[in-house]
Amino acid sequence: MPTNHHSDSTGSAAFLRETLEARRKAGLARRLRDLKGAPGPRVTLDGLEVLLLCSNNYLGIAGDEAVKQAARRALETFGCGATGSRLISGNLEPYEQLERELAEFKGTEAALVFTSGYQTNVGTVSALVGKADAIFSDALNHASLIDGARLSGAEINIYSHCDAADLERLLASRVTARRKLILTESVFSMDGDLAPLQDVAFLARKYGAILMVDEAHATGIFGPTGAGLIEALGLREQVDVQMGTFSKALGSLGGYVAGSRDLIDYLMQHARSFIFTTGLPPAVVAASTAALRIVRQEPERRQALWRNLRQLRSGLEKLGFEMAPERSQILPLRLGESRITMAACRLLLKNGVFAQGIRPPTVPPGTARLRLAPMATHTAADIEQALAAFEKLGAALLSRRLKSARPRHAAAESGAAAELLGIRGGWESRRDG
Ligand SMILES: Cc1ncc(COP(=O)(O)O)c(C=O)c1O
Repeated sequence: MPTNHHSDSTGSAAFLRETLEARRKAGLARRLRDLKGAPGPRVTLDGLEVLLLCSNNYLGIAGDEAVKQAARRALETFGCGATGSRLISGNLEPYEQLERELAEFKGTEAALVFTSGYQTNVGTVSALVGKADAIFSDALNHASLIDGARLSGAEINIYSHCDAADLERLLASRVTARRKLILTESVFSMDGDLAPLQDVAFLARKYGAILMVDEAHATGIFGPTGAGLIEALGLREQVDVQMGTFSKALGSLGGYVAGSRDLIDYLMQHARSFIFTTGLPPAVVAASTAALRIVRQEPERRQALWRNLRQLRSGLEKLGFEMAPERSQILPLRLGESRITMAACRLLLKNGVFAQGIRPPTVPPGTARLRLAPMATHTAADIEQALAAFEKLGAALLSRRLKSARPRHAAAESGAAAELLGIRGGWESRRDG
């Protein structure tokens, strides 16, 4: 029977358009912005020169000369692509070098590099547990941990965010599971808060669970050598699977697991996202190795980052914004509703600052926010410039009284806010979800 593969207005095209339209109406449609220039503290975005205040390039390493030099050399020696899975078309020396230095950095026997952080989590979680097992996952874990958990087929138990008591309640109720795996980030990517790792590690031992910690946003930032929050808290012996990425503070691309030799050998045999994909380009791997050396040898970058963070935070507080206590390099400025958040993002852009608005489903409904992340390479004058733009945002959000980043306060206290931000109609009526 002939089939018509072309979509028409009553078929799949209609479904695509309707879904997109619903997203747009809810203020949740995403779009790609035109970015020009090298990754630095200032960039050209949609034709405007702006201060970049939402990058994961926390230490400013992505555009570093030594890193670019290392990538260039590897490009000349090895060419552009790895041309196949590392298990099939050969394992180049840059991978081995990076894994050796990474294991030393993380204080483990061995390490394994994957093509991205996303693939690391999906492949590792689904390799470690299966149908007869139970996963215990923090409610705000990254999508890659969630997807790995779903793919594994294990029973998924979600504990309240950063709530060790709730984790213990769930662990105690699942003692008969064949294997138990606890999943948590150490620094949460959208809130910047820290997992109660000591308590979680204690519970992992008490209930015989495997503990996997995602240090994507902690690596390069926490700990005496920048190895992460696990290092900072002295928990290396208690965390079975130390996961991280090269895509944030290290300014490159790729993910990894550091752990025992047995763990790494096991993943090499069983992690499908390692086996069935092409290895990273050698130039990217060489860039990561150079970046790792910078993290270890230049603690002054971390000091500069914390200095900038304190200046930004205290300036925002003085302007009347309600800030969470100091925890990490990520400062969420919650505005609640997606439209308000995106309007705030546009207002800041007009005033020379790019602070991306983060909306559901990346964050829970009703908690849209500007995710602020200064860089080590910003100057004190850059931060002052950013604060001048936030002063304008504060005035727009609440024209009369205390400026608050809390949506309910803002909504209750200023009917003018939405109008000032160029949005017509009510605020409450457009709440997410
Ligand atoms: C906590 C966390 N884990 C994993 C990832 C995935 O890393 P990558 O961007 O390298 O795929 C990210 C970033 O998107 C993240 O924030």
